[in-house]
Amino acid sequence: MKTTRMRRLRNSKAIRSMVKEFDISVDDLIYPIFVVEGQGIKSEIPSMPDVFHYSLDMLEEEIKEIKDLGIKSIILFGVSDEKDEMGSGAYSENGIVQRAVRKIKEIDKTFFVITDVCMCQYTSHGHCGVIDDEGYVNNDETIKHLAEVALSHVVAGADMVAPSDMMDFRVDSIRKKLDENGYENKSIMSYSAKYASSYYGPFRDAAHSAPGFGDRKTYQMDYRNRREALREVELDISEGADIVMVKPALAYLDIIRDVRNYTNLPVAAYNVSGEYSMLKLAIDNGILGEEAIYETMISIKRAGADLIITYFAKYLAKKLKESFYE
Ligand code: PBG
Ligand code: ZN
Repeated sequence: MKTTRMRRLRNSKAIRSMVKEFDISVDDLIYPIFVVEGQGIKSEIPSMPDVFHYSLDMLEEEIKEIKDLGIKSIILFGVSDEKDEMGSGAYSENGIVQRAVRKIKEIDKTFFVITDVCMCQYTSHGHCGVIDDEGYVNNDETIKHLAEVALSHVVAGADMVAPSDMMDFRVDSIRKKLDENGYENKSIMSYSAKYASSYYGPFRDAAHSAPGFGDRKTYQMDYRNRREALREVELDISEGADIVMVKPALAYLDIIRDVRNYTNLPVAAYNVSGEYSMLKLAIDNGILGEEAIYETMISIKRAGADLIITYFAKYLAKKLKESFYE
């Protein structure tokens, strides 16, 4: 009987765990949080089981829970029903995100707060920028607005801003704006390779941000393209991005690997709402075992991501604490 070395190294749980090549640490996880206007609200998002909308007065308990689990960072999304053509709610000093950041920093000033920078939750038409007469997003007008949005977030206390709009040169515009205003130390995590994807469906319900007309294909990437992701990443790095992101994650593992091989910057992957709900619903209905979550997260690590933004972050942190995966 011949046994290979690989086979011998699989023989027990202990040896498998010793020679494993990849793992997840709670330090890698970023948890998304949706904040809404109102009072006493903690309401489950129908298309995303176990994910909630929070009003500001309900944040304290949630932030404490997240911290106790060892999660170090969240990314904030504001949901606003005050919308206008120019998305001006996105950079108002008393906007929902700005107030949420201040609130979280009041609860714990060391907690690392990232904010999503975009306009679609605040525009009446639901697009990620300012619309011109022909119905296109006006790139150059939009990046000026985005810089204001980012500035308003760091003024409120955000540690890092994450532009998710996919306009050209928005990282440059934001970086300059932050520097001019004395925020050289605030960093930018850019949604660099963000594809126009069906997997954002549940998020758009959650964030009330579905476009009122057309789609986002004129600014988000075409999923038939691979090399183009590296052109986007190259530009964002040259404009000053500190972390580059690939989004979604699962249908784009090849892109994560390409970006990993291309740059020595940290790479983040966004395990988006549709990816979450797909897996969550399969597990809740007994179709898949819950270890599928860990397997899926490891696939994103194996592809080359350093950081994972995921709605499973709390679940994973709990399981890691219980040494469930050893
Ligand atoms: C806003 C934004 C979206 C997501 C993050 N920021 C939606 C979109 O671009 O349509 C998607 C997140 C998710 O699906 O979990 N620009
Ligand atoms: Zn947007």
